[in-house]
Amino acid sequence: MTVHFIGAGPGAPDLLTLRGRDLIAACPVCLYAGSLVPEGVLAHCPPGARIVNTAPMSLDEIIAEIAAAHADGKDVARLHSGDLSIWSAIGEQLRRLRALGIPYSLTPGVPSFSAAAAALEAELTLPGLTQTVVLTRTPGRASAMPEGEKLAAFAATGAVLAIHLSIHLLDKVVAELAPHYGANCPVAIVWRASWPEQRIVRATLGTLDAAVGGEMERTALILVGKTLGAADFDESRLYAADYDRRYRPVGAEPRFPEAS
Ligand SMILES: C[S@@+](CC[C@H](N)C(=O)[O-])C[C@H]1O[C@@H](n2cnc3c(N)ncnc32)[C@H](O)[C@@H]1O
Repeated sequence: MTVHFIGAGPGAPDLLTLRGRDLIAACPVCLYAGSLVPEGVLAHCPPGARIVNTAPMSLDEIIAEIAAAHADGKDVARLHSGDLSIWSAIGEQLRRLRALGIPYSLTPGVPSFSAAAAALEAELTLPGLTQTVVLTRTPGRASAMPEGEKLAAFAATGAVLAIHLSIHLLDKVVAELAPHYGANCPVAIVWRASWPEQRIVRATLGTLDAAVGGEMERTALILVGKTLGAADFDESRLYAADYDRRYRPVGAEPRFPEAS
């Protein structure tokens, strides 16, 4: 018996890995984080599967559900939105399972920042502008931010920020970032990236407030940085005709002669 933790992707049911889909189809028990995991992903569960929405459950209740499946020798598909490596709260589940000696596996998923960048048709790391993306959030009721991980500290680097779990604090985010990036810095907000109801607002830090308007759905990512919508950037040397590299040796004395 194994608990398969699976990144269920950003929302569109077909943004699930083949491995994730096959594991879901093979597990007689499926526990899913109902607030963000789409119903369409659950369509891969086998007929008669026990399907449990863990959104209203405590950690103890979730572990009890897993322990019961373990006692019955039933594999469990444990679904979390996006990828498992960020804000999935799997850390404490894995720790409990290790203590109980219950085996598990992890299958990555498409993170929401990737889905948002695709919706924006954007490469976030453009040469000559920035080569770094910071995945971060603002403090919430469930998790405080460690000292030193303030937005202003990341902003000081000029990196692109992908700010999660923070749309309800948009005013504060803008106020904290504007002194570093300037009022003309591009911002994009993507609500429910990859869902049918996906919505995008593009603006600058100075115009965002007016562009966003009234009350909106809370599942959104705030992306800030000069690569958003930029047309003026350097080309990567990777495909330059004179760029000598292992897979495309160039010139009389290539750097990797053995490859030619
Ligand atoms: C609990 S975190 C989960 C993050 C997830 N593990 C991931 O890989 O993206 C939830 C936050 O991720 C962002 N998010 C998740 N799905 C999203 C989507 N489809 N579109 C935009 N933002 C999304 C929002 O900022 C939301 O508040």
